[in-house]
Amino acid sequence: MKPDIQEKIHEELDSVFGSSKNPPTAEELNQLKFLTQCIKETMRRFSVAPFVGRQTDEDLKLKSGQIIPAGANIIISIIGLHLDEKIYSNPYTWNPNNFNDDVVAKRHPGAFVPFGSGARICLGYKYAILSLKAQLSTLLRNYRFTTTLSEENIELDFSIVLKSVNGYNIMLHSRR
Ligand code: HEM
Repeated sequence: MKPDIQEKIHEELDSVFGSSKNPPTAEELNQLKFLTQCIKETMRRFSVAPFVGRQTDEDLKLKSGQIIPAGANIIISIIGLHLDEKIYSNPYTWNPNNFNDDVVAKRHPGAFVPFGSGARICLGYKYAILSLKAQLSTLLRNYRFTTTLSEENIELDFSIVLKSVNGYNIMLHSRR
C-alpha cells in the first residue's frame, strides 16, 4: 500500500510526535500537512458522498442561457467533478500532490467539495477532518499498513455513500 507515501507520512509523524505516546493535540494535528494532503486526495479520488441533491425554488438561468425551471430536482455529481480531467490531470491516479499549496491556489475553490457547498454544506466537516487526522495519525504512529487490494482492482458501489465491493482488506504491522 504505497510504501513510499507511508514512509513520508511516518517521517512527518515522527518529526511532530517524536517518541511521545500521548494522544495528539489540536496543535500537533495542525502540523500534519502531508497526512492532510493524503486525506484530501483520498476524498477526491474516492468521493465518500458521490452525489448531492437540490430542488430549485425559482427559475435558475445558467451562464449558457439555459433555464432550469422552479421545482426541478437536480443531482449534483461531486464524484464527476472530482474525476474531471479538465480540472485534475490524470484524475484516476491517486496523487497527494494534487493538494500541494501551490497547486490548490491555482484551482477554483469549487473544484473540491467532498462536504458539499453553500448553505447546506456538511455540518460536521471540520469535525470529520479532525477526527480522520486524529485516528489515522494514531494508527500510523504505531503501525504500517499493507493490503492485497490495488488501486486498479477496487470495485466501487455508488450508494448514498461510496463503498468498496471487495471489502477493506487491510493488515497492520507494528512499527515498534
Ligand atoms: C468524511 C465524512 C463526511 C463526509 C464526506 C460528509 C459529507 C456530507 C455531504 C456531501 C453533505 C451534503 C451537503 C450538501 O448537500 O451540500 C453532508 C451533510 C451533512 N452532514 Fe456530513 N459528511 C461527513 C461527516 C459528517 C459528520 C461527522 C457529521 C456530524 C458530526 C455530519 C453532519 C452532516 C449534517 C447534519 C448534514 C446536513 C446539513 C444540511 O442539510 O444542512 N457529516 N455531509
